Amino acid sequence: MKKPKNHILVIFGASGDLTYRKLIPSVFDLYTQNLLPDNFGVLGLGRTQMENEAFRKKMVEGIDKFASTKAKNAEDKETFLSKLYYYGFNTKEAAEYKGFAEELQRLDSELKTENNFIFYLATPPNMYSIIPKQLAANGLSDEHVGFKRLIVEKPFGYDLETAKELNETLLKEFREEQIYRIDHYLGKETVQNLLVTRFSNGIFEPLWNRNYVHHVEITSSEDIGVGSRGGYYEGSGAMRDMVQNHLLLLASLVAMEPPALINADSIRNEIVKVLQSLRPIPKEKVEEFVIRGQYTASEIKGKQYKAYREEEGVNPKSRTETFVAMKFFIDNWRWAGVPFYIRTGKSLPTRVTEIVIHFNATPHHLFMNEKSIMRQQNQLVIRIQPDEGLLLKFGMKLPGAGFNVKDVNMDFHYSELNNTYLPSAYERLLLDAMLGDATLYSRGDAVEAAWKFVDPILKAWKEQPCIKVHGYPAGTWGPDVSDKLIEGIQTWRYPCKNLVGDGEYCEL
Ligand code: BG6
Repeated sequence: MKKPKNHILVIFGASGDLTYRKLIPSVFDLYTQNLLPDNFGVLGLGRTQMENEAFRKKMVEGIDKFASTKAKNAEDKETFLSKLYYYGFNTKEAAEYKGFAEELQRLDSELKTENNFIFYLATPPNMYSIIPKQLAANGLSDEHVGFKRLIVEKPFGYDLETAKELNETLLKEFREEQIYRIDHYLGKETVQNLLVTRFSNGIFEPLWNRNYVHHVEITSSEDIGVGSRGGYYEGSGAMRDMVQNHLLLLASLVAMEPPALINADSIRNEIVKVLQSLRPIPKEKVEEFVIRGQYTASEIKGKQYKAYREEEGVNPKSRTETFVAMKFFIDNWRWAGVPFYIRTGKSLPTRVTEIVIHFNATPHHLFMNEKSIMRQQNQLVIRIQPDEGLLLKFGMKLPGAGFNVKDVNMDFHYSELNNTYLPSAYERLLLDAMLGDATLYSRGDAVEAAWKFVDPILKAWKEQPCIKVHGYPAGTWGPDVSDKLIEGIQTWRYPCKNLVGDGEYCEL
């Protein structure tokens, strides 16, 4: 496999959770697979003052807990740790960047990393406009010698206006090709597999359009509440946290046209076209198309679950949504008239992300009753996580008298691919940024198009407090009204941890 060029990965916000749980364990996984360049270092930055040794000690804990791979031996692990450095300074203070730039140059000479730097912004978003400016002021966006790349974590903006401002600010100091906006969903193997499922199989693509697809359903549920992230989540809510980015991205991958080539420009051009074709939901229709909910306290099997309003850092009268279900249309040739239903929430029964393509029923219902009409709608379930895989549902005759139809499954699970290592999303994305491949990163215009779609909904919620925030008991599938979004006899699929196990056996 191709190895990246020698470089230093500079992490702003290195004393934070993301660095500890995701970034360093992922870099470690790249190391154990021999995917890092020969000359490489990580320079962690943060306000806390700390020696290299203390930083390494903390990071090794994160590696032990969260890395997917193991070092060959203790010595090998030490070699990795020796590549980690730390420099403490106040990133809000322009005057302090000079010292940091000197430290970086010193390390660059020591490690022989040829002035190639990746800057990862793992800080609170209010730093996103300050850091790039100061990097540029200290010559650290200049690519005359060595590459300079900037990885920006979500949230990318708070609404359309702030996302545009952020794009403008970044583009003053860095070129679009230097900017890598992360949406970790694109780093998931199974999300990338959507492209392969669609575009490498002759049997699916001919059916993948308004003539054969009845509706598309996307669920991304989590069984945990907001935990210790209440402070952040209060200002975000499910729409900003999950829908604007991850769910709209999944919808775009389901709906996009085949790209001309598999490269950053072609794929991202197709994604942005879908986002630009989303039919706007006018403010006065928000309640009809979008359901918001918030989890309330509950007891399941004797176990108590907290209400969102009781979580740390949350206003006891909060109206922040922890659940969103919505219906929308994509106004283009392929999808005209096909409803897309998406749903996400915290404190739901299980952690599942999946896409369900519901195909049209047969034109004439030979084996007629209400249930069997539903059955005659074949479903293709693309499971993103867990029990990653694909499931096709179709009807078969039950042996015996009459013509009773039973739903049967044809399924593939990634776990069947023995000895196949599924890299984590961050591992894949970090490697891509190191290689200079932005295919799996969001482009500025796509981020803005997604904000443009969700902005009127957020505004309506803010300006019209009469739009209900429905309560739902923690551990249930959200407010009942979300069922009514789907017309007719249809309903959401209520998935289980096991891909094939909907409605039959669930872990609850
Ligand atoms: C993050 C959100 O972007 O995605 C979190 O901020 C959410 O609130 C997480 O829990 C879900 O990611 P995953 O990979 O666990 O589905």
